[in-house]
Amino acid sequence: MRVFQIGAAGGVGRRLAGLLSERGDEVTGMHRSLAQADTIRASGATPVTGDLISDTVEELAGKLAGHDTVVFSAGAHGTGMDKTTLIDGQGLEKAAAAAEAAGVDRFVLVSVFPDALRGGEPSEGFEHYVKVKKSADVHLTRTGLDWLIVRPGTLLDGPGTGQVTAGPAVEYGDVPRDDVAAFIDAALHEPSLSRVIVELTSGDTPVGDAVARLAT
Ligand SMILES: NC(=O)c1ccc[n+]([C@@H]2O[C@H](COP(=O)([O-])OP(=O)(O)OC[C@H]3O[C@@H](n4cnc5c(N)ncnc54)[C@H](OP(=O)(O)O)[C@@H]3O)[C@@H](O)[C@H]2O)c1
Repeated sequence: MRVFQIGAAGGVGRRLAGLLSERGDEVTGMHRSLAQADTIRASGATPVTGDLISDTVEELAGKLAGHDTVVFSAGAHGTGMDKTTLIDGQGLEKAAAAAEAAGVDRFVLVSVFPDALRGGEPSEGFEHYVKVKKSADVHLTRTGLDWLIVRPGTLLDGPGTGQVTAGPAVEYGDVPRDDVAAFIDAALHEPSLSRVIVELTSGDTPVGDAVARLAT
């Protein structure tokens, strides 16, 4: 499988690139800064420069052409509401349009629980982030792409357990980035897991079983 990752040098992205490369998939990882090319190479993927803000849809489509799947795990990561709009919102819309233009049907989006951090201290930036992410989900579901939306709980950097809770609606919780990457890796190789939204937290179901259950 030829996979194009947007956000490949990020926390989820580089873990996923490593898993896909290990199983023999051809992975292209898009990055912005030169330094990230080494991170992407270290995960076994091929780096390509690109920027969701400055690249046009046509430029992105040229980079995506020839791949089977796009995984979008890019994000503004708290760098400001304007950046959230440009990257998590309009960036997703650009990437989806580019995938359609390039004829790359399968599109996996890493989103967020709409009920993330409810009950915490309200913040305008976080409310904006959740709203933009939800709108991006809505946008993707209205495309003709073979989409899959994964909504992880709060991401942790500690080691994964290989076990998750995954479903169309699950209670909010944490989940290691390792396990998010493992879930997407397995989901990408289960073509019948399509046009669904999956919420994902730590749990007690092995990742492979969780994907198989959802696929049926
Ligand atoms: N943090 C959480 O608890 C949480 C919970 C649920 C969901 N999520 C979502 O999960 C996703 C993955 O999280 P993560 O931890 O892997 O994020 P991350 O480490 O911040 O990675 C995001 C990646 O996106 C890239 N990026 C940013 N702006 C870009 C642009 N204009 N063009 C191309 N790439 C760009 C970043 O590159 P640069 O280094 O160049 O900026 C980075 O490699 C994000 O979408 C996030 O919103 C996060």
